[in-house]
Amino acid sequence: MNPSCCVEVIGLELNPAVPQAAIAHHLFDNWNCNYIEILSQLANDHQVQTPCLKAKLLIGDARTTITLLRQSGFWADAIFLDPFSL
Ligand SMILES: C[S@@+](CC[C@H](N)C(=O)[O-])C[C@H]1O[C@@H](n2cnc3c(N)ncnc32)[C@H](O)[C@@H]1O
Repeated sequence: MNPSCCVEVIGLELNPAVPQAAIAHHLFDNWNCNYIEILSQLANDHQVQTPCLKAKLLIGDARTTITLLRQSGFWADAIFLDPFSL
């Protein structure tokens, strides 16, 4: 809809093995290869930047990282919550 739109994404994840496992299990193989490359870099390096995307994966307990994020002055337009509890 808006190809000149730039997006900033910040993910909060406790276990760095979770996004790496998603890549390793080929869950995105039917996606456009550009997205696989971006998600692989995010899973391995925890950050990726392209001309229209700035993405970071903050590893740690979200109860702590979200506080640091708030202190950094970051504001989100949308929040996606996909948790589970044991
Ligand atoms: C249902 S999974 C969803 C993962 C991801 N949204 C996806 O679709 O692959 C819930 C995730 O929350 C993470 N998690 C659990 N407790 C957390 C915490 N205190 N802080 C940050 N992440 C946590 C787990 O490691 C798990 O990867």
